[in-house]
Amino acid sequence: MAMSEARLSPERNLALELVRTTEAAAMAAARLMGHGDKIAADQAAVDAMRHVLDGVEMNGTVIIGEGEKDEAPMLYNGEVVGNGEPPHCDIAVDPVDGTTLTAEGRAGAIAVIAASEAGTMYNPGSAVYMEKLAVGPDGAGIVDIRLPVDRNITALAKAKGVEVSDITAIVLDRPRHAELIAEIRSAGARIRLISDGDVAGAIACALPNTGVDILFGIGGTPEGVITAAALKCMGGDLQGRLWARTDEERELIESEGKDVGQILGLDDLIATENCFFAATGITTGDLLQGVTYTPGGITTHSMVMRGRSGTVRMVEAQHKSAKLKAIGPIGYV
Ligand code: FBP
Repeated sequence: MAMSEARLSPERNLALELVRTTEAAAMAAARLMGHGDKIAADQAAVDAMRHVLDGVEMNGTVIIGEGEKDEAPMLYNGEVVGNGEPPHCDIAVDPVDGTTLTAEGRAGAIAVIAASEAGTMYNPGSAVYMEKLAVGPDGAGIVDIRLPVDRNITALAKAKGVEVSDITAIVLDRPRHAELIAEIRSAGARIRLISDGDVAGAIACALPNTGVDILFGIGGTPEGVITAAALKCMGGDLQGRLWARTDEERELIESEGKDVGQILGLDDLIATENCFFAATGITTGDLLQGVTYTPGGITTHSMVMRGRSGTVRMVEAQHKSAKLKAIGPIGYV
């Protein structure tokens, strides 16, 4: 790589700075936990994350954001974020993955951001949904989304050195997964159904002692790209296949030059090792503890990852109320 190009690509661990954006988003959203208003929780998180992003030293382009400019005043697709200095990066944000979980005070909502060298992040366009198969390092190179469910479960059990009945699959609890759930059961594996939050669900499969081994099922494509960044850092695998709800949606996706049946591997979703991921717990779940309040402060728990080194850091932060700057009525940085 030429010197000038090298300066333009991220050479430092950007995720150590990006984690401040997920901490801010989580602290803002958590204030509205259980208030029953998922839009308000999401908006608070967006505002807080956007504010902190301005101070991050990068020239980032939002590839996966809150939608088109007209409907999303901040963090819209194509928005330029950061302080404008190199490195040039692609950015994917999900200020709340689990808006309903947050609004209902249920487990497992997280604030998430991913970054990768400019031009390396898959742009889902109108492809809202994707069939996903995600595993940790034990299953990388072993499973294949084109194979039947039982073959993938058997192969994973063999690679992990356990019985098929020891394997637990994590699946979003949706009517569209009835057949998938039946197939997993008939293969002999156990199932963990989740009501939302397949980013955290997939990452949990790549960590020891979380009790889940493999994620199957159709979820958001943007969440799939973000998950791919995390699993790339962790040495796991995610394979996807774009899915359309209707013929009209299929035509729209195809009009953007995408193929609905096409398999998307980890390198199609994030085409570089030079990628970063940060997540902060909003509500306590399998992956991360949620935001908690102590006299005079707020505690957050985050995970910070870098693709090149494969480093995964767990970060507990104490934020002193007296020193936090208010962003709107409920956000802090
Ligand atoms: P939100 O936070 O935007 O509500 O998304 C939560 C989520 O469960 C994702 O984790 C998942 O990929 C997607 O929704 C599944 O979509 P749907 O709820 O339409 O089945």
